Amino acid sequence: MAELLSTSTSFSSIGVCFLRSASKRNITRSALPLLSSRRLPSLRTITAFLRPSPLDPVRLSSVQRAGGRSLSSSAGSAAAARSAASDPEQLRSAREDIRELLRTKFCHPILVRLGWHDAGTYDKNIEDWPQRGGANGSLRFDIELKHGANAGLVNALKLLQPIKDKYSGVTYADLFQLASATAVEEVGGPKIPMKYGRVDVTGPEQCPVEGKLPSAGPPSPADHLREVFYRMGFNDKEIVALSGAHTLGRSRPERSGWGKPETKYTKNGPGAPGGQSWTVQWLKFDNSYFKDIKEQKDEDLLVLPTDAILFDDPSFKIYAEKYAQDQDSFFKDYAEAHSKLSNVGAKFDPPEGISIDDDTTKGSTPEPFQAAKYSGKA
Ligand code: HEM
Repeated sequence: MAELLSTSTSFSSIGVCFLRSASKRNITRSALPLLSSRRLPSLRTITAFLRPSPLDPVRLSSVQRAGGRSLSSSAGSAAAARSAASDPEQLRSAREDIRELLRTKFCHPILVRLGWHDAGTYDKNIEDWPQRGGANGSLRFDIELKHGANAGLVNALKLLQPIKDKYSGVTYADLFQLASATAVEEVGGPKIPMKYGRVDVTGPEQCPVEGKLPSAGPPSPADHLREVFYRMGFNDKEIVALSGAHTLGRSRPERSGWGKPETKYTKNGPGAPGGQSWTVQWLKFDNSYFKDIKEQKDEDLLVLPTDAILFDDPSFKIYAEKYAQDQDSFFKDYAEAHSKLSNVGAKFDPPEGISIDDDTTKGSTPEPFQAAKYSGKA
């Protein structure tokens, strides 16, 4: 994910990338100004440190003082408010608001990416919180949003900020993970076993250093994936299962430097048009990612080097083949791996976490996604 802007990815690696369809010309054209702007002098960085969030500094500081809870949260949750990072009733209401947001904005993929990038900085070799990184809400701060790997995620934060404002009894760390799991469930994915109560970091000085997330085009993709995901405590099976999240969404050259500006599957949205998707039905969570990256037959579909390696590396391949053939097995392993990802590095208050699934609320059945409907094809 660190793409062009990471220390481990260079233009030469983009030049040799074996995207089937992303033309080098498009990548280079769009990426150059991006790269230079990201390397502007440290004044921007300093400014970012001085501002807690571009979105809502006043409310943010009051939430932080309250330990991530609203002082005016519902009376029924007074007991929880004494000890818990988030309020269960507000979490459930926030989930309803997220569902409505998803229905109107079709922003499922970017919310999944937001949750993953907040958590994916985790280092299992560091014991102390928040130095160990992980799902702690640090991605709300400018300094981290401006990491190259996080290009575009400010848009996800902007979408969620009104919900954060409404439910100050929900921490950012919980909101990001709630939004991600809800997004997967709402487009046909498996139910993700989740718990809540993640404590937020309180300032930008607690953000992780840049370079913790994976690059899409490293010199040795298998080694790189293992280095990054083993650091987070994941194994080969979990790496492959989690990569299956690319069944959703698109890559945009103006953000990551990867992918075509648009394809027949993305030119009409839904949501903001453009980008290149990994799958035809990129708002449907299924196992088509594994089928498509195995076949590599459609020039309009994306295969990053770190996707392709899942069928080349002998250990990854066992799982990639299995998931291409058996969606149930993918869903089972994905749900477990996603759940684990949502918890890495998190500090829970109360320590055992809070369940909000004691109600009967389930993800609604998604409207079947038809790429043709959005691509103008009959
Ligand atoms: C295995 C290493 C990974 C690499 C190298 C990688 C790389 C990328 C890249 C380059 C993009 C395009 C970003 C853009 O241009 O907007 C992207 C998007 C995305 N990634 Fe990953 N990713 C990885 C793992 C994951 C994981 C573990 C998840 C979730 C569990 C995930 C979920 C997504 C989603 C949903 C999108 C689409 C976002 C959108 O449509 O706005 N990725 N990833």
